[in-house]
Amino acid sequence: MEIRAILFGIGVMGGEIARIISKKKRLKIVGAIDIAKDKVGKDLGEVLGLDKLGVLVTDDPDDLFSEVNGDIVVHATSSSLRQVYPQIARCVSAGMNVVSTCEELSYPYRKYPELANEIDALAKKNGVTVLGTGVNPGFLMDTLPIVLTGPCQAVSKIKVTRMMDAAKRRIPYQKKVGVGLAKEEFERMIGEKIITGHVGLFESIAMIAEAVGFELDVIKELPPEPVITASEVKTPYTTVKPGQVAGLKSMAYGIRGEEKVITLEFISYAGAKEEYDAISIEGIPNIRERIEGGVHGDIGTVAMIVNSIPKVVDAKPGLVTMKDIAVPSVMST
Ligand SMILES: NC(=O)c1ccc[n+]([C@@H]2O[C@H](COP(=O)([O-])OP(=O)(O)OC[C@H]3O[C@@H](n4cnc5c(N)ncnc54)[C@H](OP(=O)(O)O)[C@@H]3O)[C@@H](O)[C@H]2O)c1
Repeated sequence: MEIRAILFGIGVMGGEIARIISKKKRLKIVGAIDIAKDKVGKDLGEVLGLDKLGVLVTDDPDDLFSEVNGDIVVHATSSSLRQVYPQIARCVSAGMNVVSTCEELSYPYRKYPELANEIDALAKKNGVTVLGTGVNPGFLMDTLPIVLTGPCQAVSKIKVTRMMDAAKRRIPYQKKVGVGLAKEEFERMIGEKIITGHVGLFESIAMIAEAVGFELDVIKELPPEPVITASEVKTPYTTVKPGQVAGLKSMAYGIRGEEKVITLEFISYAGAKEEYDAISIEGIPNIRERIEGGVHGDIGTVAMIVNSIPKVVDAKPGLVTMKDIAVPSVMST
């Protein structure tokens, strides 16, 4: 059965998702929403640099939802749940399922229990499903370690490390991890929340803890530390001079009593030579998994969103997380 998708947010991620959707036989794009002036009123194909798709980009979701019937809204506008809440609520109220890249939607029950319950209730009332996903949060630092505990009889600790070359990532990502800033500028911009660093470690820890039954006393996220480059690095976004910030390191812990039972280590800077995603589970048995080269975050996020579409459409109504829906798998046609 064909699934009709509406894009909400056609930035770097939404645009790439749209390109992949337009190639899938099972999926059809029937609407597109964005507020950027250079996109509104244009054919989506033209915005994406493709042939015309017969879908005009609008900045008025209510108007679109009153005219076009979609099965799912594919949402990619912001990391902040407070910001995206009204957008998600509009989609759900119009009777549409939602899959979103919003990091804070991936597991909102611990940081924003009220908003999470409101989305859940609204989705159930309208008989639709809402999921926040992506590569991280959504897969590498939560779903994958959760799945790897499947063959364990017991688990006492989980550690995940993600090491990436930020120069290979999209420009909005390079900006948010501080590529090319002076150290003081990085600290000020992080302090004033002008840049966010990576968003999602808190949500990944909360999701793992819930899935494996760790009763955490606290989730502690340390402020991101700048990684300073010793040699010049060129990226498609900027040139990072020696002594400037090439990216960051973020640490977060799920703590029970005095013990760090979950540790997430996120290191991303332009010029990183060795890239990998590693998971270490202490349990019976111990499990060590390492993806050499790592998973490219932008490619992986686009895939996670597109591959989740049929699973979200088939899922039970309500706000769901990656631990609640069918295991991730590629949608090959
Ligand atoms: N979970 C994950 O693993 C994962 C991975 C990658 C990205 N993400 C997240 O996904 C989000 C999108 O990333 P991106 O790189 O594509 O960002 P982006 O290039 O900035 O794209 C966002 C798009 O949404 C538009 N927009 C903003 N507010 C809107 C609104 N109220 N209604 C309609 N359109 C709106 C923006 O327009 P303007 O430019 O005019 O504001 C822009 O075109 C970010 O929050 C990012 O952190 C998550």
